[in-house]
Amino acid sequence: MALLDLAPRSFDEYAAAGGGHGLAIALGAWPEAVIEEVAKSGLRGRGGAGFPTGDKWRAVRSVGAGPRFAVCNAAEGEPATFKDRTLLRTNAYQVLEGLAIAAHAVGAERAFVGLKEAFVPETEALGRALKEMQAADALGSIPIEIVLGPDLYLFGEETGLEEVIEERPPLPRTVRPFIQGLFATPPNDNPTLVNNVETLANVPHILREGPAWLRANGTEDSPGTMVFTVCGDVQREGVFELPLGSPMRALIEDAGGGAPEGRTIKAIFPGASNTVIAPDELDTPMDFDSLREVGSGLGAGGFAVFDDSACMVQAAYRYSRFLAVESCGQCPACKFGTGEATDALEALEAGRGSDRDVELVLVRSRSSTDGQKCALPTGESLLMQSLVQVFDEEFRRHVGRPCPLPRELPFHKIVDRDDSGRFVYDGDYVRKQPDWTYA
Ligand SMILES: Cc1cc2nc3c(=O)[nH]c(=O)nc-3n(C[C@H](O)[C@H](O)[C@H](O)COP(=O)(O)O)c2cc1C
Repeated sequence: MALLDLAPRSFDEYAAAGGGHGLAIALGAWPEAVIEEVAKSGLRGRGGAGFPTGDKWRAVRSVGAGPRFAVCNAAEGEPATFKDRTLLRTNAYQVLEGLAIAAHAVGAERAFVGLKEAFVPETEALGRALKEMQAADALGSIPIEIVLGPDLYLFGEETGLEEVIEERPPLPRTVRPFIQGLFATPPNDNPTLVNNVETLANVPHILREGPAWLRANGTEDSPGTMVFTVCGDVQREGVFELPLGSPMRALIEDAGGGAPEGRTIKAIFPGASNTVIAPDELDTPMDFDSLREVGSGLGAGGFAVFDDSACMVQAAYRYSRFLAVESCGQCPACKFGTGEATDALEALEAGRGSDRDVELVLVRSRSSTDGQKCALPTGESLLMQSLVQVFDEEFRRHVGRPCPLPRELPFHKIVDRDDSGRFVYDGDYVRKQPDWTYA
């Protein structure tokens, strides 16, 4: 069974299909044995970094002093990504069961699910599932709370998420949660587990059917499926679960139908966190290591496709502006660097730019990571530098000239799907300012 195969309308339906067995098995086992099962499966985090889940659980359980906590990261804010919301809409029960198992394994005393207040259908689905499972006594004894937060990218950054749980704005912390976590006061560091929705959705299946369940799909180092998002200039935008290691072509051409009639694919952005992927890399396997080998990354498995009618300067401007707006300002090199790169891209896009602006994009995006607390500016550095390198000629052609490809591009901040299945993008985003207010 795959993660999106079952769409239960009630807990009874979930239980009738075998839901709840994973937690029952976990509660009957030593927590260390549960961690061992997850480690053996080879599960890696689906929130962006691909960190081995078993190793993280082991660290939270065994290192440091004080109570432990477990957190499900459901704040999904990566551009071109809609998979966690799809999982929550489809089957919130398996996510909650995964969180209950994780909380037991790491020895947590409380657990949280953090998601955006703006995610109305997901909050409803999650709230209903939580109530039903609590009423059926199907979540074990560790309390689970839902925490709603602001529509900010950094809410999904794991330390920003901790800040929101502690009722502050999501300004990232320096220390990773598994070293120093929620509500920590010396000498207690309260190691805290933060896992992505999709990571946790895999866990009940691994406990119920054994580590081999995950390893039935994917590669040796990236086992399992991944719930991929494809959006932008494709015939069928959507969310598709495929084995890890599938060629990118299977997502973009087979599932997504390829470029619109009469057009060809020009570039693929793996969200806002990695380098651009060129069409001649479409046979690259979508797994953590293969994408790194071509210099990019799998991230959260969301891909925005641009066809040959798209201007890469405009696309770069929209993505750089997103990172500049969302940067919190704690690290000056990030806030000012992403801001200056964005201004240079805006000038180029408007036909007011010079060669100096192209250099400025390179220089500022590269140094935006200086003294970084979190990985937000890494996205600026990787994506902007790669765009200028791969599309150098197009950037130079744009110097001092209005856009040669004047099509208005959307920014792929997905808020929903419409009746035809296409994504709805956040139309208000153009009004969002770098101080997080709306003009
Ligand atoms: C700027 C930024 C935004 C992030 N947004 C998300 C997010 O929306 N959801 C998520 O699960 N992880 C997000 N992450 C990654 C988390 O910090 C963290 O690595 C992840 O939740 C860990 O879960 P995993 O090990 O299960 O992947 C983000 C990271 C950064 C730097």
